[in-house]
Amino acid sequence: MTASAVLLKDYRAPAFLIDQVELRFELGETGTRVSSRLQLRRQDSAIDALHLHGEQLELLGLTLDDKPLPAHRYQVTADTLTLFDPPAQFTLGVETLIHPELNTALEGLYKSSGNFCTQCEPEGFRKITYYLDRPDVMARFTTTVVAERERYPMLLSNGNPVERGELADGRHWVRWEDPFPKPSYLFALVAGDLGCVRDQFVTRSGRTVALEIYTEHDKVDQCAHAMASLKKAMRWDEERFGLEYDLDIYMIVAVSDFNMGAMENKGLNVFNTKFVLARPDTATDADFLGIESVIAHEYFHNWTGNRVTCRDWFQLSLKEGLTVFRDQEFSADMNSAAVARIDDVRNLRALQFPQDAGPLAHPVRPESYIEINNFYTVTVYEKGAEVVRMYQTLLGREGFRKGMDLYFQRHDGQAVTCEDFCAAMADANGRDLSQFMRWYRQAGTPTLKARGEYDAAQRRYTLHLAQSCPPTPEAADKEPFLIPVAVGLLDRDGSELPLRLSDETAATGARVLELTQAEQSFVFEDVPAAPVPSLLRGFSAPVKLVCDYSDEELLFLAAHDSDTFNRWEAAQQLGVRAVLQLLAVRAEGHAWSLPSTLAELFARLLADDSTDPALLEQMLTLPSEAYLAEQMAVIDVDGLFAAREFLRKGLALHHRAAFNALVERLAVHGAYSLDGEAIGRRALRNRCLDYLASLESALVHTMLSRQLESADNMTEQLAAITLIAHGEHPARLAALESFYTRWQREALVVDKWFTLQATSKRADTLKHVCTLLQHPAFNLRNPNKVRALVGAFCNNNAVRFHAADGSGYAFLVERIVELDPLNPQIAARLLGALTRWRQYDAGRQALMRGALERILDLRGLSPDVFEIASKALAG
Ligand code: TRP
Ligand code: ZN
Repeated sequence: MTASAVLLKDYRAPAFLIDQVELRFELGETGTRVSSRLQLRRQDSAIDALHLHGEQLELLGLTLDDKPLPAHRYQVTADTLTLFDPPAQFTLGVETLIHPELNTALEGLYKSSGNFCTQCEPEGFRKITYYLDRPDVMARFTTTVVAERERYPMLLSNGNPVERGELADGRHWVRWEDPFPKPSYLFALVAGDLGCVRDQFVTRSGRTVALEIYTEHDKVDQCAHAMASLKKAMRWDEERFGLEYDLDIYMIVAVSDFNMGAMENKGLNVFNTKFVLARPDTATDADFLGIESVIAHEYFHNWTGNRVTCRDWFQLSLKEGLTVFRDQEFSADMNSAAVARIDDVRNLRALQFPQDAGPLAHPVRPESYIEINNFYTVTVYEKGAEVVRMYQTLLGREGFRKGMDLYFQRHDGQAVTCEDFCAAMADANGRDLSQFMRWYRQAGTPTLKARGEYDAAQRRYTLHLAQSCPPTPEAADKEPFLIPVAVGLLDRDGSELPLRLSDETAATGARVLELTQAEQSFVFEDVPAAPVPSLLRGFSAPVKLVCDYSDEELLFLAAHDSDTFNRWEAAQQLGVRAVLQLLAVRAEGHAWSLPSTLAELFARLLADDSTDPALLEQMLTLPSEAYLAEQMAVIDVDGLFAAREFLRKGLALHHRAAFNALVERLAVHGAYSLDGEAIGRRALRNRCLDYLASLESALVHTMLSRQLESADNMTEQLAAITLIAHGEHPARLAALESFYTRWQREALVVDKWFTLQATSKRADTLKHVCTLLQHPAFNLRNPNKVRALVGAFCNNNAVRFHAADGSGYAFLVERIVELDPLNPQIAARLLGALTRWRQYDAGRQALMRGALERILDLRGLSPDVFEIASKALAG
């Protein structure tokens, strides 16, 4: 396989523009005919050929200004159609035949559960017809969809429906017109026999928008939460950013075969069912929150993505980082803001920090790619959102809003760059943000070292900050970042001290310091006694903070910090210390015992009845194995697991009575409710059960079995079945069987059933997962199933996936071999599990490298998998 890289520095403005597109689809069971008429206009007179993108297309006809084009005027290759010497302005007619019924890659036009749907971002439109398939070519689309009426009563596309009719042969058609110019990646078409839930929304300027959610008929009773979330998101965007919806209709279609979470096609979002369907008995609290956030995310794209789009795919974070930030702010406003922030950071640390430290590290705005599908990453999305959050932290909410207003004022209807966004923020606030742009160009997670020094005689506290950033594949040396460091100083009783820097006359409360140099000191005056600093509050920058707090100081912050994020963070750090301490103790040949500081922390937390249960749950959760692994030079897979389990059991034993009491006290009575209080209580109660289950007592098993039988909601059911299945009780297999029998008609619940088996730490898990590959409900062509079983095993079961004999790696290679020909995007994503081989011991390194080499040796490898495997080996 040879594949060539696309480089940011090679960007050229398009030589031709497309003003208007007319599409006609004749959908069929054994092929679909696509006719297109493009109004083209030359931009660059130095260029004398038009190169259109097109892949896997059969060209049936080609006309220029309605006259058939002679063969010598054009040329077709595997991925282009070239017209020689076209006029300055003309209409191109193209007729192609495609095969959605054979499309397993789920990119372009494909079928899901018998219905037609599309996924065009980033480069799927070229699998539908020949086109300038790049985001800086924005055109007005008119789309006519023709299909058999009986099988496909619903015919949908972008914009507003303008005309419909019947054909004599049992087919019917609908014409859609989208008044907003858009890039081809936002094109969408859906045809099928679908149920629909309708509602409406009145915008603040008084326009009524029809809201429609389409899904399979027997699932229409699972759309209410998605609809409610959509209306909340529409209102929130008006209130927070002054942004209103712009078409008369907003449609969402839920499909069960989808490569990602959802897609923001103009006026016609296509969603993975996972992010639409929910009913209390089938979806967990986490699922409900996930739906709320993804529905909002896709809706918010209408402005940040669609009205203002990306100039090229290197700028992906322009829309994704910004839109993730917007959905995070929305979720924080709708739910517990503190817990939302903790979840975001947990996720960033568990997934993005490792990426940033490995061979696939890349800047928020990459400068090179082989396959753009591989760059829909946690770095572009989640770190990108942190970068946008830093603008807001630096400029304040109002300043950020001014920047957003200017951004839309300048760029509505345009395809722009991350510099344009930065310039709007800077200009609206009269600031120079050129140093800030380094966050887009430099990869790697910076380390921020902090050291405090108190001078009692001068009543002066000096905070010394130093930043550094490790080398990453694109650069060895990094220039200092502009890092907003939110700080507060606490006195001995935990109250906030007024802060006055040496050059200031008046004091303020907590504040944001701007670190711009490699090393910088900040001097606070009138500090009456040695304070405890609370640093990087709210996680004000995506960095690793290093500060040598004593255990007592961490206990103090966990109890007293007014910044809830830092209360949680202090508890996390105590957890990290406890695990690392156990590993060190074992290395010296000593036996383990429960670290007293952690026991003390838990004693306090378990006795705390004033803190929000949701926050308590977060503080009682030990750091994830992924985050712990990040703290080690060489990841000790088995040691980490053993240490974490030792703490789980040790804490359960030590605090058994308190855990039991909490389980009693927290039982939620009455009907299921999705309010924050109820969610928090369920989460905390399930966390307590998780500790108690580690003790493997008959009593706990009985409690879990009862919960499994009587719970009216999936949150409690799933917690119970998971703990039962992961334990040793002989009834576990029967419980798994009956759970499946009960839920076999709910695909999303069956996914949970696969996942909970794939993440069991029992020794026979891999064998069991292999058996499940043959289960009638498993399907390699369905990405949700692959993620639920194979993805969960490889990414969320470190001890079993990284088994020292290499069996986990061999298993993954086999899955890649099967999957790559079907769905390269999903295959490439799975391969992520092998990329951090350098972090492991010599034995595992050799096995992981061997696995990657075997993959690279495969014939006919997709560019997607090739890029990940080759970069992983090279890095
Ligand atoms: N733009 C989508 C989002 O909201 C991402 C996406 C959906 C996507 N489907 C995709 C990206 C398929 C690549 C391929 O985040
Ligand atoms: Zn997005």
